[in-house]
Amino acid sequence: MRRFLIPSAAALFVAICATSLAQCNKAPAAASAAPDYELIGTVHDIMEGIVDPASDVLFDAVATDITAAGVHEKRPQTDEEWTKVESNALMLAEAGNLLKMPGRKAASPGDQTKSEGPDAPELTPEEIQAKIDGDRGKWLKYATTLQEQARKTYDAAKRKDADAVFALGEDIDMACEECHLEYWYPNDKVARASHEQAKADREKERQQKAAAQEKK
Ligand code: HEC
Repeated sequence: MRRFLIPSAAALFVAICATSLAQCNKAPAAASAAPDYELIGTVHDIMEGIVDPASDVLFDAVATDITAAGVHEKRPQTDEEWTKVESNALMLAEAGNLLKMPGRKAASPGDQTKSEGPDAPELTPEEIQAKIDGDRGKWLKYATTLQEQARKTYDAAKRKDADAVFALGEDIDMACEECHLEYWYPNDKVARASHEQAKADREKERQQKAAAQEKK
């Protein structure tokens, strides 16, 4: 069937071209409905292959290790180390776009989420898919929140601001958890409670910092 459609579309194109030059320029895009990108992985694959490893680099880049030997402040030291943080922040920020691409599936049929078991609180890939399709705007909002924090981290890495990379790591972590609590394990009460606690702690910390700033 398709073979017959192509010549007729071409004929139409020629006909439009003959009547108006402006239409002529528009016609090729209208003639091909297929997107000019190809979806290779699922959300599941992107999480495992891109989002998780890239965010791990960011989470590990800046840390304070307190041991018997003393306090060790870990931060990127060399240009090379900073470039690695910068690249992984870029990967995470761009992964936001991958998640937002229309047509991206949650998982392949038969994919198992990590801790699926008899009482696992996780939704099945089909349930996750239905939630995403049911309210696309909501899905885009969660992906954008992650993307925004990753973009800020990218900027912070470019100016070699370790304190900002550390603080943004917590915001990234929050963005992961907010989306997972919505789509992946919405019925996990323990995870939800600990997320609420982390959010409250973070808010308190923010207020204390603001108060300390005012005193200065
Ligand atoms: C826009 C929503 C969204 C955001 C933001 C998000 N995730 Fe996910 N993630 C999902 C969904 C949906 C699944 C479950 C899909 C699946 O694995 O079948 C998932 C699954 C995962 C998995 C499990 C993959 C597996 O092997 O089963 C990991 C690991 C993961 N996410 C890590 C992260 C990390 C780390 C972040 C933040 C840096 C993050 N995710 C941010 C939606 C999101």
